[in-house]
Amino acid sequence: NKVAVLKGGISSEREVSLKSGAAIAQGLRDGGYDVSEIDIETKDFSLPAGIEAVFIALHGQFGEDGEIQQRLVDLGMPFTGSGAESSRVSFDKVLTRECLIANGIPVAKGEVITKSAARTLPVPLVVKPPREGSSVGCHLVFEEEQWGAAFADAAQYSADVLVEEYIPGRELTVGVVDGQVLPVVEIKPKTPWYDFKAKYITGDTTYVCPAELDPDLAAELQSIALRTFDCLGAEGFGRVDFRLSPENKPYVLELNAIPGFTATSLLPKAAQAAGIGFSKLCCRIMEWAHL
Ligand code: DAL
Ligand code: MG
Repeated sequence: NKVAVLKGGISSEREVSLKSGAAIAQGLRDGGYDVSEIDIETKDFSLPAGIEAVFIALHGQFGEDGEIQQRLVDLGMPFTGSGAESSRVSFDKVLTRECLIANGIPVAKGEVITKSAARTLPVPLVVKPPREGSSVGCHLVFEEEQWGAAFADAAQYSADVLVEEYIPGRELTVGVVDGQVLPVVEIKPKTPWYDFKAKYITGDTTYVCPAELDPDLAAELQSIALRTFDCLGAEGFGRVDFRLSPENKPYVLELNAIPGFTATSLLPKAAQAAGIGFSKLCCRIMEWAHL
């Protein structure tokens, strides 16, 4: 089968996507696919002839936000993962929160503001541009004097800025692959904050999979991850990120419709722990490509 992997892209997560895309292309080749790797450098891209389906390995804007999904629908080209509308909602942390709250899924207290002075939540808090990934533009604010700079940086990315109560405790994530929920992964960064550096640069974050959790709690997290996936209308695969308070109360942060996908990324790690190797994982997602 002739397929294409779309990688790179024009978002702040381009470098991450180049790595995900190269790994996915290799995984698909190992599974017998004839793969063209296409580096998306502008929105004005074209697909080579003879391609039967596309694996979207793009993160961030014009990749994970529904726009490229809609373009592929218009071209009649089957693609992996969630459809255009689901992607649009899950890429927007504000729209995601609205959907989760409406479905009774626990999220941290939050507010959306456009001016620094409009904030009502007390510190400690987390400030986020709603439509970015990999913690780009996100800041943890423990002290009042950190607020101004944190807000100003987040506001560079979008006019609306999401402010959420900071949940102390543990950082956990749960992957879903075509209806199957994967074991919980715990992320243990060396720094207090799993930021872009801790994700990709310093290499001193440790990951525990399956996470050391009471089995009932692990099952609860998996059940919430599936409900999150379903209520956002996600398809194919995705990864639901959580905070777990010291009282063991879970809070959903978001769903990543196209999570990091190198062989050592979180969802592939969890799949491996469930007995699904990297190539098999890529092929399984590819087989479910749809319009
Ligand atoms: N946004 C990055 C790629 C992730 O969620 O893994
Ligand atoms: Mg994300």
